[in-house]
Amino acid sequence: MGQIVFIPRELDPNEPRVAASPETVKRLAGLGFDVIVEKDAGFGSRIPDQDFTAAGGAIGAAADAKKADVVLKVRRPTDAELKGYKSGAVVIAIMDPYGNDAAVAAMAKAGITAFSMEFMPRITRAQSMDVLSSQANLAGYQAVIDAAAEYDRALPMMMTAAGTVPAAKIFIMGVGVAGLQAIATARRLGAVVTATDVRPAVKEQVQSLGAKFLAVEDEEFKAAETAGGYAKEMSKEYQAKQAALTAEHIAKQDIVITTALIPGRPAPKLVSAAMVASMKPGSVIVDLAVERGGNVEGAVPGKVVTTENGVKIVGHLNVPGRVAASASLLYAKNLYAFLETMVDKAAKQLAIRRDDDLVKATMLTDAGQVVHPNFAKAVEQPRTEPAAIPATSMVADARPAPKKKSAAKPKGTA
Ligand code: NAI
Repeated sequence: MGQIVFIPRELDPNEPRVAASPETVKRLAGLGFDVIVEKDAGFGSRIPDQDFTAAGGAIGAAADAKKADVVLKVRRPTDAELKGYKSGAVVIAIMDPYGNDAAVAAMAKAGITAFSMEFMPRITRAQSMDVLSSQANLAGYQAVIDAAAEYDRALPMMMTAAGTVPAAKIFIMGVGVAGLQAIATARRLGAVVTATDVRPAVKEQVQSLGAKFLAVEDEEFKAAETAGGYAKEMSKEYQAKQAALTAEHIAKQDIVITTALIPGRPAPKLVSAAMVASMKPGSVIVDLAVERGGNVEGAVPGKVVTTENGVKIVGHLNVPGRVAASASLLYAKNLYAFLETMVDKAAKQLAIRRDDDLVKATMLTDAGQVVHPNFAKAVEQPRTEPAAIPATSMVADARPAPKKKSAAKPKGTA
């Protein structure tokens, strides 16, 4: 019998994704693993149990986690789940460890070798393992779909015998992976699209997708991109100029989609209550940064709020989970691509090379210890010390500079 990979059903009721697909189960079996998928694990992603069995997996129960050498998950294991794993098991998930020191310590105590997928370096070799990109890309798409669903007019211009419907004006704030896909999706739906960002590299990408770029292009803007390809927090002066420029623009928009994040900082506030109030009734704002503090004043995590002047502010949580069937396929593939690098194909055994860059960047706990440098310290400190660094700061720290892109289009943008 080979080593066992177990894929549980996610316990969080708001998590419809699953960490395997029929394709990855088949490939895992091909690597020599025995794959056990918990009954109904694929339910929220519309993958029936029989599709996993047809791919060579076995359907099991939660208790089968005990046998597993590798557990593939979407979310960090709960304490109850940890109790069900054998010591030494490899657990790969989106661990969201910042500010969750106790949970990291618990994983070390459980003796698991935990990998945090969101810390994968953004280097060419690891592109197929980049869960932030695969999920942000879908979130950007879904943001436009959610906006369209809340908007009570058509998006494309329609010239009919009964008259002309004007095209909707959509403004995308923050043009990383999610923002680029939002632009592409909004364009496909026929909207007139403008976009803004603080990184100069974005301008050309926006234009190549057929949208217009709008930004305060001063000296600070020219220096706003970090070596890792991320944004810096801008000065108060810049923020004021940016607000002045965008305020007038936002008042004329039908839909605003915000995706702006800064590693190590709360999401920048880009849309004030006054800007929201300046929009026409029936306008829609989607705040994709709502889980990280929000870009929009008045956005409420998990809610669609209608303001007094009839503007809807959409603050859905887990937006990739709203396209779970697609998100799971890509996420599963990200996990498979990483696990494959940790398998000795001749021996058909796990063989983790602890000096590998990908392993070093993502391994949180191993052999009873918190091994990640950024966390070893955090866990030693008393809980009263603020774990001040929100989710992606570490991502930036751990990441070498992103590969210079020759083509402006993000992966998956047709
Ligand atoms: P992110 O999720 O950290 O931030 C989203 C966007 O918000 C960024 O474009 C950022 O510049 C922008 N932003 C921050 N503050 C702002 C403000 N005040 N106003 C307007 N916009 C603001 O970024 P994401 O999506 O992770 O992408 C970061 C970079 O990494 C991009 O250059 C992307 O192309 C690159 N990348 C490289 C990859 C690779 O080489 N393997 C893979 C994926 C992304």
